Amino acid sequence: MHEPDWKSVLDAAHTASLEYLDSLPERPVVPSTVDYTAMRAALDRPPAAEGMDPAEVVTELARDLEPYLSAQASGRYFAFVVGGLHPASLGAEVLLAAWDQNASLFPTTPGVAVAEELAAQWLVGLLGLPAESSAGFVTGGQMATFTCLAAARHEVLRQVGWDVEADGLVGAPPITVVVKSGAHSTVLRALRFLGLGERALVSVACDDQDAMKPDALAEALRDVHGPTIVTLECGNVNTGSFDDFVAVADVVDAHRAAGNPTWVHVDGAVMLLAAAAPAMARHVAGLDRLDSWSTDGHKLLNVAYDCGIAICRNAAAHRAAMSVQAAYLDQGAEGRDPMDWNPEFSRRARGVGVYATLRALGTHGVAELVERTVRLARRFAGALTESGQAVVVNDVVSNQVLVRWLAPDGDHGRLADAVMAGVRAEGTAYFSGTTYRGERLMRISVSDWATDDEDVDRAVGALLRHARLAVAAS
Ligand SMILES: Cc1ncc(COP(=O)(O)O)c(C=O)c1O
Repeated sequence: MHEPDWKSVLDAAHTASLEYLDSLPERPVVPSTVDYTAMRAALDRPPAAEGMDPAEVVTELARDLEPYLSAQASGRYFAFVVGGLHPASLGAEVLLAAWDQNASLFPTTPGVAVAEELAAQWLVGLLGLPAESSAGFVTGGQMATFTCLAAARHEVLRQVGWDVEADGLVGAPPITVVVKSGAHSTVLRALRFLGLGERALVSVACDDQDAMKPDALAEALRDVHGPTIVTLECGNVNTGSFDDFVAVADVVDAHRAAGNPTWVHVDGAVMLLAAAAPAMARHVAGLDRLDSWSTDGHKLLNVAYDCGIAICRNAAAHRAAMSVQAAYLDQGAEGRDPMDWNPEFSRRARGVGVYATLRALGTHGVAELVERTVRLARRFAGALTESGQAVVVNDVVSNQVLVRWLAPDGDHGRLADAVMAGVRAEGTAYFSGTTYRGERLMRISVSDWATDDEDVDRAVGALLRHARLAVAAS
């Protein structure tokens, strides 16, 4: 075996990583200048004929790339829905990189397979989901939704005697997919991947917080017969709202009782973790009556990118939709083969990051993390409302806040963009926008375990200052 100089390469990575992590509290949250040509020039170091020392490569890579990184784990990155980096996850990732396990089969790497199995079991327990549920670790919310909807497609067709894995969709009984209006784009994309189409949907009206109206669902299902898939949300990307799971479960029970095979999937990318927090109990009531749940490790749980989790009550359907056989593989041992629960074949053991982070946080720590991000979202909302310079548009029931900046000339959307751009250029914090019900607004997502009151106050200070500057300049 080649005997590489592991130490020098790890030392180089360790030094550069620590410098980066130490810089997080004060470095610009997103790069202050991104000059494409300069960035290309800094990184365009084509491989030489003879290659070079790995430690030197790592040192140069860190030096050349570091100025262009976003400080996603800084505590003041409030754009999109982006989690930070829990130290336990970082440690697990370093080990995973060193171990370099292809975590697809139990017999070839039993330890990480068992760690993933346990992480899945702990998470299902923590979320109060049915104990018989299966879970697969995928790359993110997108693929978690894809995986769950593949299981749904399998099961609703199986119940009418159709084997979609064997026979495909051509000639299959039609499936009606019911989504809420404004369903997240990843749900639509998953339906596209599954051959169910983005347009062949029934769309159900929502209330003013973008939660599905159960009456409208009942009304829509009246005209639906045969295999049915309904998708819901646990944490809307704009408002942070929760669908009414109890009411939907009641409506769906009646639909099923009328002879329609039905599966309800919940997109919980933003807030499935709320199910682990006692203070959020009323928002997640009824979640355990549904069929599948997708979520992200890399959002609120603060596991490193990339990590999503697909959970299905019906483990047999989950496995039937995902499993794969090949004569040259060593399958069917007593342990769980990870490749049976996700769409990847070769894969890294991303569930180990969940294992480590759950242990480090502890069950109370997970609940506290959820409750703290909600409290901090409300701190934002309170301070901005009190300023008189902005209005909070949504009911802040979770960790998302929608903000209208009040422009004296009435062009609130333009002011929102100016405020976000000013704060971003200053480097203090990062917020992203959205168009909600036709109006350009600023979004705040508090999803980083590192964010504290001081981060919020500092970000609010910057927002208000840039709002005053933008108004003065207009
Ligand atoms: C509601 C919702 N679903 C799904 C996703 C997709 O998750 P991922 O980016 O991990 O694929 C997101 C991402 O923000 C989201 O907000």
